Amino acid sequence: MIYAAHQEGTMPRERWSSRIGFLLAGIGSAVGLGNIWRFPYIVGQNGGGAFLIPYLISILLLGIPLMILEFAVGRHFRGSTVSSLKRIRNELKWIGVIVTIVSTVILSYYLVITGWTLAFFIFMLSGTELVFGEFIQTYFSPLFFVIVVFMTSFIVAKGIRRGIERTSTIMVPALMGLLAVMVVYALTLPKAVDGISFYLTPDFSRLLDYSVWIAALGQAFFSLSVGSGILLTYGSYLDERVSLESNSGIIALSDSLISFISGLVVFSIVFSFNFEPAAGPSLAFATLPLIFMKVPYGFLLADVFYLLLFFAALTSAISMLEVGVAVLVDETSMSRLKAASLLSVIILVLGFPAALSYSRIGLQLLNTPVLDLMDRLFGSLAIIFTALLISVSSTWFCPKRTIVNQINKNTKCNLGAIIFFLLKYIIPLALFFVLVSSIIGYA
Ligand code: PFF
Repeated sequence: MIYAAHQEGTMPRERWSSRIGFLLAGIGSAVGLGNIWRFPYIVGQNGGGAFLIPYLISILLLGIPLMILEFAVGRHFRGSTVSSLKRIRNELKWIGVIVTIVSTVILSYYLVITGWTLAFFIFMLSGTELVFGEFIQTYFSPLFFVIVVFMTSFIVAKGIRRGIERTSTIMVPALMGLLAVMVVYALTLPKAVDGISFYLTPDFSRLLDYSVWIAALGQAFFSLSVGSGILLTYGSYLDERVSLESNSGIIALSDSLISFISGLVVFSIVFSFNFEPAAGPSLAFATLPLIFMKVPYGFLLADVFYLLLFFAALTSAISMLEVGVAVLVDETSMSRLKAASLLSVIILVLGFPAALSYSRIGLQLLNTPVLDLMDRLFGSLAIIFTALLISVSSTWFCPKRTIVNQINKNTKCNLGAIIFFLLKYIIPLALFFVLVSSIIGYA
């Protein structure tokens, strides 16, 4: 059966307008809060420079093959997570449903933080001094959450080319330019070297601790957007002539470079002004603003930083929303606008507890702020689980020829068979092991 010919409904499926458009949307999805807000403190907590070893191994051996697989499945079956997996085998649609739920839950707390970035940008622009602990107790946190939910769904409702691709084509180059400004500033600070040596001096003994490897794998998946169905969905709009191997490589390389550079920026600044480096997730929102308020032209610098963070977060948020929108459009023939609006309501409901977790109410579960708990359960554990489900369902239930042909299309290296082998045997085993040991770790 030729699955590629599947096209339910009457409207032809939209396509990216060009390879560059697809590439920028892919980089936009990968580069997000994970790179600038999460990566630096995870490195700080897990052995500094030594962390880069398990991180790069995870990207190369697990992240990139899974990325290629998701693109291949999406492009071959030309459907959302649910429709594509259903075309492999009807029961597998439930895996599509699980993947969609996971990405929607991640999006709900992700947009809470995206709201903070926009609020910080606007307040700093107007010259207002912001203290995170105070800001978070005001109604501005939920208010900006609502605003960014609306913005995300507005962009996604406009479609692949006019919404997602256009936004990424503007914001991704802009964020790279803003990052370049930050790098020049940070690396010319007097004590930048101290920050960099804290960041990169390797503590190899930490590599004996398996939790460092799990953190590296979780961070690699979060950052590449693997396991969330985004890449599968984006692949379903991709032209057959585009090489999956080289473009996945470019996306992964850009993503890792931006993470690495963000770490340089954050630690150079923190050390130059004698602040505590291991401030955890609040590094970007609590520590950095205090510094920005102290330095000459600090407001300007803060604005560059939070605009950069906001662009990175928004281009990732639209990719996560597209997963659910594509499912509703493909499965129910609902319009994009209706699908995006319906999902926005769901996200507002799901994200509200996260928005309240640092407020005066201090919403907690199991002694952990709800937002942190959602990040741990969904942003770390659940995406490893869904990546496992995707790799097993598309290598064990789909003919090998189908996937290998998709991967080898228009490439010179023809690594399809090797990548398939990794995806069918090695990667599921590795993911299963990681999953079991992290569940035991949590328990
Ligand atoms: N990759 C993006 C980031 O690093 O922030 C966004 C993201 C997508 C995070 C999908 C998590 C996820 F499951």
